[in-house]
Amino acid sequence: MTKSFPEHPQFAILIEKSGLTPKEASEKLGVSLKTIYRWINGECKPQAMALKQIKELAHMANSTPNHRRASFKYIDLFAGIGGFRKAFDSIGGHCVFTSEWDKNSRLTYQANYECDHDVVGDIRDFTVDDNALSKIPDHDLLVAGFPCQPFSIAGVSKKNSLGKAHGFKCDTQGTLFFDLAQIIEFHNPKVFLLENVKNLMSHDGGNTFKVIKRTLEDELGYSIQCRIIDARNWVPQHRERIFIVGFRRDHGFRFEDFKIPDFNPVLESILHSPEEEDEIPFTLNGGVGDKYTLTPKLWDYLVRYKEKHKAKGNGFGFSLFGPEGVARTLSARYYKDGSEILIEQEGKRPRRLTPRECSRLMGFDLPGESSFNIPVSDTQAYRQFGNAVVVPVAKSIAEMMKPYIERAIKTADNQLYFPLENEKSEKIAVSG
Ligand SMILES: C[S@@+](CC[C@H](N)C(=O)[O-])C[C@H]1O[C@@H](n2cnc3c(N)ncnc32)[C@H](O)[C@@H]1O
Repeated sequence: MTKSFPEHPQFAILIEKSGLTPKEASEKLGVSLKTIYRWINGECKPQAMALKQIKELAHMANSTPNHRRASFKYIDLFAGIGGFRKAFDSIGGHCVFTSEWDKNSRLTYQANYECDHDVVGDIRDFTVDDNALSKIPDHDLLVAGFPCQPFSIAGVSKKNSLGKAHGFKCDTQGTLFFDLAQIIEFHNPKVFLLENVKNLMSHDGGNTFKVIKRTLEDELGYSIQCRIIDARNWVPQHRERIFIVGFRRDHGFRFEDFKIPDFNPVLESILHSPEEEDEIPFTLNGGVGDKYTLTPKLWDYLVRYKEKHKAKGNGFGFSLFGPEGVARTLSARYYKDGSEILIEQEGKRPRRLTPRECSRLMGFDLPGESSFNIPVSDTQAYRQFGNAVVVPVAKSIAEMMKPYIERAIKTADNQLYFPLENEKSEKIAVSG
C-alpha cells in the first residue's frame, strides 16, 4: 500500500511532544487506538476536546523531569558500567531495568546514573519461568552487550537425525544468548540492539552466529541488520565490534547508511596534560602518578618476552605508543601487565594508562574531562573499561536509531509508517 502524507499533522507532533505512545494516548483521551492512528496519519480531523487535551499533555511533558517525557522505555542487560545507558539516555530513553551480576561494576553504574529501579544481578534468575520473566518491566527497546559462548552443533545434528524438532530452546540452552532470546520472546520488544566482539561471526566456525541469526530472524521473527564498527573514528583506539539491530518489523532502518565520522583522533587527546587539575591517585603535581610506571622487573620481563617471540618470527608482546599513536584494543586483562597499550615516557620506563585515561579512551569522559565517577580500585576499573562499549559509537548508533524507534512505537505492526522528518513530503510505501 502507498500513502501520501500531506503535512506532518499537528496531532502527530503534539503526541510526539507528549511522550505518549498511541496506546497511552488512546487511554488518556478515551478514544480507540484506531482513531488515534487516523488522527496521527491526518486521515481525519481530531475532536476539538482531544486536541485541547493533547496540547496540555505536550505542554506538561516539556516542563516535567526527563524520565517523565522519555520517548521510549528500555532495558539495559549485561550492563557493565553503562556504555549503552549513557548513549540511550542521551537520546531521551528511560531505562526501566538493569541487570549486571558483577558487584564492582554495579558500584560504578550506580555512582554514575540515576536509577529509579534496583540494579539486579544474574539475569538467569529472571528467565527460569514465565513468572520470573514477567518481573522484567515492559519495554520498547532491549540493549545488551552479551558474552559470547559456543553452541553445541553436535546436539543440533543429532536431534535433526532423530527427526526431532529443535530451536533456540535446544540449540542455545545453558548460554546467556538463550536467556536473551527468552526475554525477547516473552516481551517482544519493538527493537533491540546487541553488541559483541567482531569474531562472533567466525566463532566456532561460524556456527555461533548462524544459530544467533536463525533464532532472531526465523524463531523470534525480527528483521535484523549487522554492522562491524571500528571505534577508531571516534576515539584513538582500534576496537572493532559487531552491532546487531533488530526491529519487530522492517521500519526502514538501514545500517549501511550509518555514517563514520571523518575524524582521526590520536592518543594525545586522552592523555593527562600538565594543565589539568590533579586527580589523586591518577595525577599528582601536574604529572601522572608514579605507580603507573612499570616496575623494572615487569618491564624487563616484557622486553625479554617480546625478544623471545621475535626470534621465533611472531609479533607477540607489548605495544608502545606516543601521543600521536592510536591504541590497540583495551582489554579486560589490561590490569595484568598493561602490555597492549604502554605509553612512552621521556627518560623513564613506559607507563600504563591511568583509569581516567581509559575512561576517555572509551568515551565515558570527553578529552580533558574527568567527570565519570570511578569509585572502584584500579584493577576493577581497568576490567570494567576493557569490557565496555565505546560510548560515542553507541551514541551515534542510538542517534541513528532514534527516529526508527519512535516510528516503531507509534506504529502498530499492521499500520502505515509514521512519517519521519526527512520523509514528510515523500510517499511512504509500507508493507502489511
Ligand atoms: C561485554 S560486558 C558488557 C559491558 C557494557 N556494554 C558496558 O558498556 O560496560 C558483559 C557484562 O555482562 C556481565 N554478565 C555476565 N554474565 C552475567 C549474568 N549471568 N547476569 C548479569 N550480568 C552478567 C559481565 O559482568 C559484564 O559486565
